[in-house]
Amino acid sequence: MFQRPSVLRQLFRLLCLGCILFLGNWGGAVTHQYVAQAVEPQSLYERLGGYDTISEIIDEFLKKMFADPQVGRYFIGMGTDTREQLRQKNKLLMCKNTGGPCKIINRDMKLTHGGLGITDSDWHVAVTHLATTLKTLNVGEEEQKELLQLITSLKEYIVEHPGP
Ligand code: HEM
Repeated sequence: MFQRPSVLRQLFRLLCLGCILFLGNWGGAVTHQYVAQAVEPQSLYERLGGYDTISEIIDEFLKKMFADPQVGRYFIGMGTDTREQLRQKNKLLMCKNTGGPCKIINRDMKLTHGGLGITDSDWHVAVTHLATTLKTLNVGEEEQKELLQLITSLKEYIVEHPGP
């Protein structure tokens, strides 16, 4: 006689426990979603692989620039130390502009390149060397695109003679 309400009570308890577990899990999922949204997206610097990758990119890129039959002439007369400084300034510039923890130490881009007479064709050579470097070093497609966009934004300060 008294067993029936007890079984019902047991069933009710089980149902409640199930609800609590379900809601708890759902709540957890929602919380997790909010936490995921609150996490900052990674900077280009981080996605590239940090300073080590940037250092490799600049070393490889400038090696190509120095050896190039068309644009190599701009660097003739630069000694080992001056080239090393150019490399370092470019690394810090790229590090800072991609969101890294570096301090820029180079002069203003227009001031530095002013008077060199860099042409559109020279610019094209430089961008091609950079693009090849990024591919060779297996930089991600999205990061390649973002980096090339960043460089393109500097063109107006560097090219003095549009046209070949
Ligand atoms: C691709 C974009 C470029 C970036 C981000 C860039 C960046 C720089 C930086 C950071 C410096 C050092 C500035 C300083 O000494 O304070 C520099 C110097 C120099 N760059 Fe560029 N550059 C670019 C394109 C070019 C191109 C296309 C050429 C030539 C074809 C070029 C030729 C030079 C030369 C000759 C110097 C040394 C100038 C001097 O100290 O008198 N650059 N560049």
